[in-house]
Amino acid sequence: MNSLNDIANAIVAPGKGILAADESTPTIAKRFESIGVENTEDHRRAYRELLFTTEGAEDYIGGVILFDETIRQSASDGTPFAELLTSKGIVPGIKVDKGVTLLPFSEEETVTEGLDGLRGRLDEYYELGARFAKWRAVITIGEDIPTWLCIHANAHALARYAAMCQEAGMVPIVEPEVLMDGDHSIDQCYDVTHAILDETFKELRLANVDLGGIILKPNMVISGADAPEQADAQEIAEMTLACFYETVPAAVPGVAFLSGGQTEQESTANLNAINALGPHPWEVSFSYGRALQASALRAWGGVAENVGEAQAAYLHRAKMNGLAHNGAYDADMEETD
Ligand code: 13P
Repeated sequence: MNSLNDIANAIVAPGKGILAADESTPTIAKRFESIGVENTEDHRRAYRELLFTTEGAEDYIGGVILFDETIRQSASDGTPFAELLTSKGIVPGIKVDKGVTLLPFSEEETVTEGLDGLRGRLDEYYELGARFAKWRAVITIGEDIPTWLCIHANAHALARYAAMCQEAGMVPIVEPEVLMDGDHSIDQCYDVTHAILDETFKELRLANVDLGGIILKPNMVISGADAPEQADAQEIAEMTLACFYETVPAAVPGVAFLSGGQTEQESTANLNAINALGPHPWEVSFSYGRALQASALRAWGGVAENVGEAQAAYLHRAKMNGLAHNGAYDADMEETD
């Protein structure tokens, strides 16, 4: 498995997708707070060990995105996490952006930082076993936003990051996330998603990025979380595909959606509806954080005796999403699996 295209294809192989376990320390603090667990390094390590040692997850998970702290940690038996994942045939990845900062003269729009010194960091992560990376840009829909400045600045940064990853031998996950937050309609989400995807691919080409060696991690085209009218799975699938067929080149090996605040079952049903309308030019898969972990986190609750139950919950979600990648999921399977 040498070329960037081979790596990308392995990560989003049919029936497989990505576990996003790259929550930063402040973000995992929020997740732990919801289950009453103290945010210590060892709790973070134990929780990630629970996920990564789940037997059978490798049937549905082709890649795991790690955080800087996690790629330096090991399982209880001393095996570094990156090595443990690789031994199961799961490709280790790493979040390399440094989070968002407000754009100058703006009170609500952000650009993602982390380009300075990125080359050196990529080389170190490669040595630590990472073969793909992630950079998340955040676009908010609101009154008079997003501006073109925000769309352009974020697309430009994504392209510069992606080119550096490829130079370092790593597949860039290109993540322009249009947030679900707000009361906007699905049509507004369509327009903004179209604009950011279009600009991102323009910038990727300008930066000489090989489109056969990236994975796109977008939002689905979906109603705002507080919108009075909520589109159903069929409409989400049709609008998402209409948008992507216009903006995402067929050379891209994989589209791996983020869950972005959808519930576990919604994100699975929506992914399945998109694949049920296939075949598509790209593998259409998942790169879920919350939607793969919410039940597992609750089942664990920070208690060692609950590890088995938590692993079963994670494996179940991984399996349901693996089926959705193939368009073979049915909500009834939630009970019978
Ligand atoms: P969610 O699926 O929880 O949105 O997380 C995916 C992710 O990695 C966001 O950057």
